[in-house]
Amino acid sequence: MQRILQISDTHLGREPGPIRPGYPDSDHQLARVLEALARDEPRPDLLWLTGDLAEDPAPDAYTRLLGLLDRHMPDWAVAGLAGNHDDWSALNRAFTAAGHALDGHRVLGEWILVGINSAVSGQAAGRIVPAELERLDQVLTAHPAHWAVIAVHHPVVSIESVWMDRIGLTNPDDLFAVLDRHPRVRACLFGHIHQDFRGERRGVELLGCPSTCVQFAPGAERFALDTEHPGYRVLELQPDGQLDTRIQRVPGQHPAEAGA
Ligand SMILES: [Fe+2]
Repeated sequence: MQRILQISDTHLGREPGPIRPGYPDSDHQLARVLEALARDEPRPDLLWLTGDLAEDPAPDAYTRLLGLLDRHMPDWAVAGLAGNHDDWSALNRAFTAAGHALDGHRVLGEWILVGINSAVSGQAAGRIVPAELERLDQVLTAHPAHWAVIAVHHPVVSIESVWMDRIGLTNPDDLFAVLDRHPRVRACLFGHIHQDFRGERRGVELLGCPSTCVQFAPGAERFALDTEHPGYRVLELQPDGQLDTRIQRVPGQHPAEAGA
């Protein structure tokens, strides 16, 4: 069995501290989640960070992120994606220098994991460019006997939240056209929505993840924060293609308490 842990939307600021008045400190919230991971979870086959790792893509934010990972899980395999708040090049430089992968793919036993970039510079909504779709298609074609999990920052379907659905993935049909050619794709993970989400499309589980910082209220018409705790996703991948998953919450500071 392969075990994957997903964290998302860490939103570290240019300097430590809250990124908005009334928000908790993103660095502290992330540290709490990483502490819980290191304490409560056996070492996974991969820790996958699905984007919006910095609020503002200052190099120092990525340095602090990598420092926290190194402190709490120095020997874990780590892979990442850029989100709309990130600078892909700066994040790629920082991750590569630390020995971590951005996007790319890796084979773990009977499974293949593929990270897909959907970030578009200067835009909240996402798009997967043709070269990236082509790479996904080629990787899946080259591994026809492997079960597959893909990860992308933006949600690939509506999550029934009006404001969020406007800034999701703008070309999901292009992605689905690729996935429909590869029947062993079992799940698509994403971040961006700062909430647990579970959907399904033609045998592919569609799985959203909480943020390590603030949570967004499900079903909201306009931007609204939720009082849920930060959290992470656990995935257990069986050799026969079965996938088990759950969200684990980690008590943190709520926005309303942050000023206290
Ligand atoms: Fe995002």
